[in-house]
Amino acid sequence: MKKINVSAPGKLMLLGEHAVVYKYPCIVTAVNQRMHVRVEKTKDTLIAVNAGQVGIKNYKKDIEDIGKGDIVKELKFIEIGLKNFKEKYGLPCGLKITTKSDFSSKFGFGSSSAVCVCLIYALGELFNLNLSKRKLFEICYKTVLDVQKVGSGFDVASAIWGGTIYYILGGKKIIPLKTKSVPIVVGYTGIKADTPTLVRVVEEKYKKNKKLITSIFSLIESLVIEARKRIENKNWERLGFLMNVNQGLLDSLGVGSVEISNLVYAARKAGAYGAKLSGAGGGDCIVALTNIKYRKKVEDEIKKAGGIILKVRTGENGVRTD
Ligand code: PMV
Repeated sequence: MKKINVSAPGKLMLLGEHAVVYKYPCIVTAVNQRMHVRVEKTKDTLIAVNAGQVGIKNYKKDIEDIGKGDIVKELKFIEIGLKNFKEKYGLPCGLKITTKSDFSSKFGFGSSSAVCVCLIYALGELFNLNLSKRKLFEICYKTVLDVQKVGSGFDVASAIWGGTIYYILGGKKIIPLKTKSVPIVVGYTGIKADTPTLVRVVEEKYKKNKKLITSIFSLIESLVIEARKRIENKNWERLGFLMNVNQGLLDSLGVGSVEISNLVYAARKAGAYGAKLSGAGGGDCIVALTNIKYRKKVEDEIKKAGGIILKVRTGENGVRTD
């Protein structure tokens, strides 16, 4: 096999963000907007990358120099991913790597993790390594930590396993939920969230108020544990309530924003069962749980409140060869 095309899904956090960094569970779903990566073996000793959507054309570096010297910001996940792969399995030939995404990296759908998962999965296939999901997770999660220092790895697990999963830090638990999809409307605030900064905001609060913040995390944990059952039983009304409570607790952690609240309240007023931010907070997207009857109204009200509707299906397949 000389070349391969693979894709991995983007993700949306449904419940449990931030608390997951402190070993509490979260629930994440994979969406049908995907990252696509083509990897070709070449006869030289170069890694050549084309990633047009992030402005990278014909970037070249020798295999020997991978992970050394200056690393282009847009290619960090690719280069450090390659370095980690090379350290474990070697890299016997040059590669031509091309990436293309169905979604903008601004949305917070996890483009960096998805690109890393695609790349390492593709290499595993190209070199017949029979990488298990766990092995793939280990290399990709290490890469995330090497690059951004913080992160629970939920986005990596979602890109690999797909579907909707119950997840605990570092992949301690990755449990696929028995559900096809969760009926949500997604509204983008128009603001790019800075995840590492927001993780540090919570860390500061935690350091100064350990007891109080631990109680908030415990509440998030209980609602996530309950939400797991509600999702499997399709009890949307109760799940919506749990999402609203989760949103209140996230606000109390200091990761809300006026723009998020505007969309959240618009969605609830329009008849959504519940609505909350998804991911780090500060911006990115909100998810509103909605039945078919109110869907259009919820979308319209989110738009009126300044949001952009992103049409997505949830519970989609994990990484695969296309
Ligand atoms: O910003 P996102 O969509 O990558 O979500 C971050 C979620 C956090 O729980 C805040 C961090 C993490 O890695 O789990």
